[in-house]
Amino acid sequence: MTRHFLRDDDISAAEQAEILDLALDMKRDRFAVRPLEGPQTVAVIFDKSSTRTRVSFAVGIADLGGSPLIIATASSQLGGKETASDTARVLERQVAAIVWRTYGQAGLEEMARGTTVPVVNALSDDFHPCQLLADLLTIREHRGALAGQSVAFLGDGACNMAQSYLLAGATAGMHVRIASPAEFSPSDAVVADATAIAAQTGGSITLYRDPAEAVAGVDVVVTDTWVSMGKEDEKAARLTQFGAYQVDAALLALAKPDAHFLHCLPADRGFEVTADVIDGAQSIIWDEAENRLHAQKALLAWLLAKNVS
Ligand code: CP
Ligand code: NVA
Repeated sequence: MTRHFLRDDDISAAEQAEILDLALDMKRDRFAVRPLEGPQTVAVIFDKSSTRTRVSFAVGIADLGGSPLIIATASSQLGGKETASDTARVLERQVAAIVWRTYGQAGLEEMARGTTVPVVNALSDDFHPCQLLADLLTIREHRGALAGQSVAFLGDGACNMAQSYLLAGATAGMHVRIASPAEFSPSDAVVADATAIAAQTGGSITLYRDPAEAVAGVDVVVTDTWVSMGKEDEKAARLTQFGAYQVDAALLALAKPDAHFLHCLPADRGFEVTADVIDGAQSIIWDEAENRLHAQKALLAWLLAKNVS
């Protein structure tokens, strides 16, 4: 059966560790692993804007010996004009894998059901699992381990980053805290799934309303935009609703003295995070952004190896 990566818990704890090990090896020797030699093509489809994801997949696929085919949905037949499953059947005859940034998780699931090549979620409304591989890699590099580390995510607890932190963090055996207003809590189903995973890995899941309580004594503080792609109409209300969750120096000071700060970027400086924090000594955002490349190369190499028939 074809392995896909649509959400963070599509891989086990052992598989997550294997992919992160591979990413570290591939980061040390960037051009040594070339499973796409040929070159084989990987389709990378964008329904939403992107800088990091577009660049890191394009560069990563080339590093792996392959050829990236970047498709903007608006200029394709996908998105109302042709179903995801018909698109998948056309693509699979010609490409080695399909990477897709989209809105609903259901479209990704339909794409995956319709094809024998791996489908990778490059961000949906619900999850951003490729970003989490990069974040975990960055935390591992800077803090030496993942299991037992505590991470507090502040802001929109219902957004893709918060929900991916729940699943991927639990898989890694981390203690994941989410602090959000009540109306922006993660979905009950994702919290239940993450809690079940954490029970197996020694991690834990805790939801907070009070940002100061969530950040107290943690190893890693994370935030993300308060206005995710697709939520632009709610911008004015959200800037007020999330005001108390801004990561500033005083809030970061409640974490461990050597705590690190992460943000998947792009950042709205002065809203979810102040400039002194994002540019400060505890911020590791540029390593995080670079690690998209290494983590996704490892993921693609791993999926291609798993799917050899
Ligand atoms: N972090 C992230 O996915 O960035 P882009 O939207 O620029 O791809
Ligand atoms: N939560 C953000 C992440 C951007 C990379 C969004 O979906 O817009």
